[in-house]
Amino acid sequence: MRKKIFVTREVFGEVLDFLALHFEVAANQEDKVLTTEELARVLADKDGALTTLTERIDENLLSRCPQLKAVCNIAVGYNNIDLTACNAHGVMATNTPGVLDDTTADFAWALILATARRLNEAEAYIREGRWDKWKLKQFLGLDVHHATLGIIGLGRIGQVVARRATGFEMEVLYHDVRRASAEIESACRARYVTKDDLFRRADIVTIHIPYSRETHHSIGAAEIALMKPSAILIHAARGGVIDDAALVEALRKGTLAGAGLDVFEGEPAIHPGFRELKNVVLSPHIASSSERTRFKMAMMAAENCVAALTTGNPPNLLNPAGK
Ligand code: GLV
Repeated sequence: MRKKIFVTREVFGEVLDFLALHFEVAANQEDKVLTTEELARVLADKDGALTTLTERIDENLLSRCPQLKAVCNIAVGYNNIDLTACNAHGVMATNTPGVLDDTTADFAWALILATARRLNEAEAYIREGRWDKWKLKQFLGLDVHHATLGIIGLGRIGQVVARRATGFEMEVLYHDVRRASAEIESACRARYVTKDDLFRRADIVTIHIPYSRETHHSIGAAEIALMKPSAILIHAARGGVIDDAALVEALRKGTLAGAGLDVFEGEPAIHPGFRELKNVVLSPHIASSSERTRFKMAMMAAENCVAALTTGNPPNLLNPAGK
């Protein structure tokens, strides 16, 4: 009998065609965000699932999905999946590392440039019909070239962000829980500093660490208070790493010049303060969203699912104990 899988959110037709070569496929192409109840019902008789960050895969769900053997996330981040619960239920979990590094780093740069040069404010000014004359002191921004870039997290994406900084002739500082190898530091032209030092010295701080219990609010009032009032903070990693309420407060008081944010605590709801602020560039978690990259991510998850349910060895297995 063919194994059964469910795709929890809308994906590209080619991905469903590929999955259909191997499995009986059911898919949520209407793209409704499913409740845990709905998900539990639909996964009750499934062997595998392609999931996204909008589904929480935990004990509560897995205890009701006795057949499930593989959960293949269409994302590199997997904080929506409780790996301990997966291990307990013999469920393999996979993610999509590598394929989105360049695209996500490009978007971090889009946020850096847009925030530093106040592109959102300038565009709104024209759209609202308020541009009546050229002015010397109009939308004065922060220079990106020759500035000091501080990268929190020199992993795959952080490294690509660092390498892009060469063209802007920047000084690059980084902090991570573990210091990178000399080869990586040299390829990225990045210097390791303490976290406090980075926040004190950088003109632009950009965050590239995953969300976990350890990183929850690891950028809060104390870190933001160390930043220069002229500095900007960029976040395209995961909601919850920054204490959004503390960030709103600093942006409101003007102790921080601006922020460029693609991810939020509790998204798609966002702290209401962000909407009222001019000095913040907002986007709806789209850093990896180029046509090509989102396709690659979905196909990679599909390949993980095929491998998990046929050979038991998916290339991007997160929990060997789940086998
Ligand atoms: C997107 O946020 C991802 O984790 O891939």
